[in-house]
Amino acid sequence: MENISGKIQFLLGGKIHSVVNIAPYMTVLDYVRNYLKLSGTKEGCGSGDCGACTVVIGELVNEQLHYKSVNACITLLATLHGKQLITVENLGDNNQLHPVQQAMVDFNASQCGFCTPGIVMTLYALTKNYYMPSKKQICSALVGNLCRCTGYRAVVDAAANIGKQKMYEINAEHEFFIINKLKEIDSKTVLHLTSDQNHFFAPKTIRQLTTLLEEYPDANLLAGGTDLVLQVKQNHHINTVIYIASIKALQFIKIHGNVLSIGAAVTYHECSHILSKQYPELAKLLERFGSQQIRHQGTVVGNIANASPVGDMLPVLMVLNAQLTLRQACGSRQIPVADFFLDYKVSDLQQGEFIQSVEIPLVESGYQLKVYKVSKRIEDDISAVLAAFYLKIQNKYVKDVYIAFGGMAAKPMRAIRCEEALRNQPWSKETVAVAAEQLVYDYSPLSDVRATACYRMKVAKNLLWKCFIETNDPAFLTRVTDYA
Ligand code: FES
Ligand code: FES
Repeated sequence: MENISGKIQFLLGGKIHSVVNIAPYMTVLDYVRNYLKLSGTKEGCGSGDCGACTVVIGELVNEQLHYKSVNACITLLATLHGKQLITVENLGDNNQLHPVQQAMVDFNASQCGFCTPGIVMTLYALTKNYYMPSKKQICSALVGNLCRCTGYRAVVDAAANIGKQKMYEINAEHEFFIINKLKEIDSKTVLHLTSDQNHFFAPKTIRQLTTLLEEYPDANLLAGGTDLVLQVKQNHHINTVIYIASIKALQFIKIHGNVLSIGAAVTYHECSHILSKQYPELAKLLERFGSQQIRHQGTVVGNIANASPVGDMLPVLMVLNAQLTLRQACGSRQIPVADFFLDYKVSDLQQGEFIQSVEIPLVESGYQLKVYKVSKRIEDDISAVLAAFYLKIQNKYVKDVYIAFGGMAAKPMRAIRCEEALRNQPWSKETVAVAAEQLVYDYSPLSDVRATACYRMKVAKNLLWKCFIETNDPAFLTRVTDYA
């Protein structure tokens, strides 16, 4: 392959920073703390849960700067190529605190201070995207930042007052400077880092990707990395990583006919607006996918490729009969998402093949989608059980029904026996009671740290009842709607 470079370049503190001869799987957190000695960014969990390591990444998208908060501990340094990295050391000016930092001081929003740099960076990203964020937007942004001593009231108050400070204003001149600096970085060359038989590639086109997959058929594909980088850190045997998020041809969201198509490089953050608009039932669920930092990185297709039994989006895609477009050098094929999962974290993806996109049918007239997530915490938690129901009730009869659960088996699975007990039956308590018992034949759930098998089965049955109650009487209050 031509045009290959082993030099990572990104913007830091207004200057282009170049890195060569670095381990391919170096994380941003390890690099800033251990190489640059920028120790303001903290390490707490090291696994994308606590937010202590939050940094902000600036990226040029269609000639505009986009800023997002990410967890530095699960972000590979190589993925920064062509972007701007902002750490807590880059805030403030001429020995003056940045307005976000000043607000944290003014509202007594820090005690031990360990979480504070991460919280400051999360709020900094928020102010880059909203001049006066609402309380809901503030709380949503802070979901991924744990504070064990101050608590959140003071932080939320600080956040609500940042925009009122005179110092805070959008500096167009500075943004123009950043844009031009980013354009100085070569964005056409394929990045290739290598050491000790480990490789990292960042192709720019699908052809380059398929060529690499022919040469490295066992390579792991990296989009957001919210799971794969964890595996890298836990010393799973990973020889080759191919980063696909720089491939423009995989960055699309489009509706054609009655199908929503999402490319493999699209993050949850980027498609959550259209998903919530087309499938309003998903709006609340999407807010409960990890944290904002995770949604800024994690992709829908990555969620599928991972084939996790508790991937939150998978049961939803199964009941909607979503299809995957799988591609390799010699062609492509389509497969229903429901057929893609073979066993625990085993999928039908063949060697040299990758998921190009997922095609999700829009909700058909007369059908209802219901989705329920049960986890120990409301936010930033893994499901114990996730249920998706897609059904058509006509004249109090079940005309059609699709049900799938996550967390009930080694892979996400349809509840075929339960569906059969409902189809063409009266949508009544008696039918639901019979159908709920069929779940025992559909699933043999496991006990693990999140829930016991017995709990999971009980919850699954109860969620069918919840679906029945909500579709029968939409006014019936079944959900906690305001917990803040
Ligand atoms: Fe906890 Fe990175 S150190 S999220
Ligand atoms: Fe101590 Fe937040 S101030 S953990």
